[in-house]
Amino acid sequence: MTDAAILIPKLLQALDFAARQVRGTIERYPDFYPMYTRAGRWKHEGEAWTHWCDGFLPGILWLLHRHTGEAWFRQQAERYSRPLEPRQHDRDVHDLGFIFMSTYHHWYRLTREPALRDVLIQAGQTMGLRFKERGKYLSSFIGPESVFIDIMMNVGIILYAARETQDRTIHQVAVDHCLTTRRVLVRGDGSTAHEGIFNVSTGEFLRQSTHQGYRGDSCWSRGLTWSLYGFGIAYRYTRDRRFLETAELNADFYIEHTPAHGVPPWDYDAPADQRKQPDSSAAAIAASGLLDLAEFSASRAKARLYRDTALRILDTLTGEEYLAHTTPGWEGILKRGVYHIHKGLGVDESVMWGEYFFIEALTKALTLLGA
Ligand code: GLY
Repeated sequence: MTDAAILIPKLLQALDFAARQVRGTIERYPDFYPMYTRAGRWKHEGEAWTHWCDGFLPGILWLLHRHTGEAWFRQQAERYSRPLEPRQHDRDVHDLGFIFMSTYHHWYRLTREPALRDVLIQAGQTMGLRFKERGKYLSSFIGPESVFIDIMMNVGIILYAARETQDRTIHQVAVDHCLTTRRVLVRGDGSTAHEGIFNVSTGEFLRQSTHQGYRGDSCWSRGLTWSLYGFGIAYRYTRDRRFLETAELNADFYIEHTPAHGVPPWDYDAPADQRKQPDSSAAAIAASGLLDLAEFSASRAKARLYRDTALRILDTLTGEEYLAHTTPGWEGILKRGVYHIHKGLGVDESVMWGEYFFIEALTKALTLLGA
């Protein structure tokens, strides 16, 4: 059990540090949307692979505005959110949940302006267009034959659009995608595959595969946490117990296979020398997702385990190894993340989604602890 009296000041200090780092990044690189650092610096010519991260910096600004109440963060949040609006029609990525739930959703909850809700609805409807009737999944940016575990983080915006418009058809698209993902990407032990490949003519599922994990049959830790968190979101919208059970299965795998400090290797099945590389972003996502599961779980013992695990992760992430506060010149908040190890992108660096889910988890934990 983590002692709240010690943890609360540590979490508050981490948020203060985060606010300073983000302010510095915006002042240094105005109107730039960072993705991952190189040697601790956000701005470089490194490849993006796919354009899925632009919501995270504005998302952090919305979270910091809520935490600090400072008008400056609100102004910057709007400034960085507004240019994303055309992407409500973007059919090239499977990431419209990442982009809009971290921006327009926060904005709409604060203001209740109908035009903001319209953007969210359109983004959800655009996401729904990725649905493949044969196979019943939302295809990844790779092609029509491919489904990614990451898409579980983007199903929520379809469920949101369905709820706001009372559209049973797109609701069913999202539910079918979750059921297919559960069947083909989540294994019996709660581990996950990164990608699944279908025969597009017949809808037959062919095999598990990967881009960012060690192997097709391995468990890439960030994929596991996208699943844990994403099935929790699916449960929040549908109250379908199968989705909660899947999220809990992922959580139980995470807890059983992650070292006691709470931060996983980048892939649980990589050879021992490669497993020395952690992915702090997976830990941040897990902490935030576990805090949701602690709220949803029907079992008191499980809820306590999820809450305590999340707090232990945050205790570790706010310590010397991960928080960049004692690393001179480092522009990120959380060190030791990984983006794409095979392409050599963002390895042992700060990554923007890690920053976002870390700050989200810190604010959720402080609310839970009554701070
Ligand atoms: N493509 C999403 C991720 O890197 O987790």
